[in-house]
Amino acid sequence: MVEASNTTVTLQVHRFAPRAERAERARGGSPFARKSSPFGGGSESASRRRPRGKQWVQEYTIPARPEDTILDCLLAIKRTIDPTLAFRYSCGHGMCGSDAVSINGTPTLLCTASIRDWAKQPGALPQVDDEGFRHIGEDESDGGASDDGASLGVIELAPLPGFPPQRDLIADIDPMLNQIRKLTPYLEADGVLATTEEGKVNAFEYLQHPEQLAKYETLSNCIACGVCEGSCPVFAGGDAFIGPAALIWSSRFINDSRDAKTMERMDAIDTADGVAACQSVRACSRHCPRGIDVGEEMWQIVAKVRER
Ligand code: SF4
Ligand code: FES
Repeated sequence: MVEASNTTVTLQVHRFAPRAERAERARGGSPFARKSSPFGGGSESASRRRPRGKQWVQEYTIPARPEDTILDCLLAIKRTIDPTLAFRYSCGHGMCGSDAVSINGTPTLLCTASIRDWAKQPGALPQVDDEGFRHIGEDESDGGASDDGASLGVIELAPLPGFPPQRDLIADIDPMLNQIRKLTPYLEADGVLATTEEGKVNAFEYLQHPEQLAKYETLSNCIACGVCEGSCPVFAGGDAFIGPAALIWSSRFINDSRDAKTMERMDAIDTADGVAACQSVRACSRHCPRGIDVGEEMWQIVAKVRER
């Protein structure tokens, strides 16, 4: 919660309001459009990638302290200045992954990003000219900074890259969730569940050694926030590459000694849009909020699939 402060911060928010017919398309659109596509299902994904609507950048200058999070600032704006501003969040503590956006061009979570870490003096932020080119360090204006030095700086916010925007800072992350779902993100253990005399399931445990748990424990911390996918230059919507998050989820079960579908899971990612599409750029590792070295894990799973 942003409290009274004698310092301010300016948020430059890239806003987007979809055209009304997009909602119609999202409900199913024309059945003819879908059937006539020669690229099997392409019409829906194409419409996801080309959202139409009004785009503009809106500036909000509000009182803020260096320790406030950017989510605090957005909530204050929504409550007191502009209730139309749209963004997504849930836990507020880096646990749910619902609030990934681009902050100063870097994919990360709103709720763990502080003003202190992200506010820049205006000249340090890329300025976008009328033709869409970005220039750094050419802004001569004070960007709203007051003469007494009370401005903490400017922060640029945009929806998570790599996904189609839905409204303002909300991106449509369904492509990532669908890719994860396709790879059966749940344990498929061997064995038959015993039943009691009353016919109820008699739950039992699969025991593991600490070394077996260590092989996938970090991977199980993934919260499907999409930050790694937004950082990956190959993902870009998921048509050519199922993406690092889906591979992390697959790797989590491949490395689980209790899972009985290891070979099937490796087959599922041994495809042109699976491990073969990873170019080892390793941009996915830089900002994982759960501390997963995504690039290294990608490397390990690629090697494992190739060596089998
Ligand atoms: S691996 Fe990290 S950055 Fe990628 S979706 Fe999972 S938690 Fe987010
Ligand atoms: S709101 Fe849940 S991770 Fe940020």
